[in-house]
Amino acid sequence: MTDAFSSIDLAQELTLALEMADAGDAIAYAYFEKQNFTLSRKADDSEVTQADRETETAIVDFITRLRPTHAIYGEEHGHSGNADSPWKWVIDPIDGTSNFVRGVPVWATLIALVHDVEGPVLGVVSAPALHQRWWAARGLGAFANGREIKVSDVATIAEAQISVTFNAGWEKIGGTANLIALQQRAYRARGYGDFWQHMLVAQGSVDIAIDAIGLAPYDNAAVQAIVEIAGGRHSDRLGIRDYTQNSAISSNGRLHDEVITSLKI
Ligand code: IPD
Ligand code: CA
Ligand code: CA
Repeated sequence: MTDAFSSIDLAQELTLALEMADAGDAIAYAYFEKQNFTLSRKADDSEVTQADRETETAIVDFITRLRPTHAIYGEEHGHSGNADSPWKWVIDPIDGTSNFVRGVPVWATLIALVHDVEGPVLGVVSAPALHQRWWAARGLGAFANGREIKVSDVATIAEAQISVTFNAGWEKIGGTANLIALQQRAYRARGYGDFWQHMLVAQGSVDIAIDAIGLAPYDNAAVQAIVEIAGGRHSDRLGIRDYTQNSAISSNGRLHDEVITSLKI
């Protein structure tokens, strides 16, 4: 492990990340309750609101003030901070914006601390409209609303609960048929979507979560940290552990290789 890694106190960084989540929740949840915000479309046609932008601004300001030597990467405002740092905060201010704008409570602020060699080692997923917050840091455990969590020990697909997000990206690579076949072999299939399905894997409620194709690093970083620290695996659709890839599969670990094999095209 590198010097930069052993010299950081992840407990301190976690305290800070939870404070950032409090600051983010205060802004995002106020907008959600009132359902009163400007809504526009980005270049990729995805929805964005002033709640997304203002939430990220608050978190970035917080990091800039308290961790000026670290790098920052957020969905709405891009890169800032010290690009040479081995430490990068990766932020998705609202994951599930399409839910947020329709009044569906499945949305969360995702905050991760990523090390340039080790990858995501700390994550906070704060979903105030669900009254749920998950967090984890390497060596300190994974938690949901303060209760320690771990993945399930389900050992076969036939006994597994699975959550799948179908989208045009899967269709484009010819993967839809494999997804359908896999969920038909499972004990039960539902689509919980977004960050939620991965957190349900981390807390042992669901055994496999397969996300859409077309993800970005900020969709994956916090989720990967929490799933891994809860004892699970998080990889791209080919089984590679890399939060910057555009696909994401979480599992309890035991089922991971079989899922990856089943999805091979
Ligand atoms: C979306 C969520 C979703 C994934 C989409 C993302 P956003 O993020 O992460 O799970 O399927 O591809 O765009 O735009 O709501 O932050
Ligand atoms: Ca997202
Ligand atoms: Ca987002």
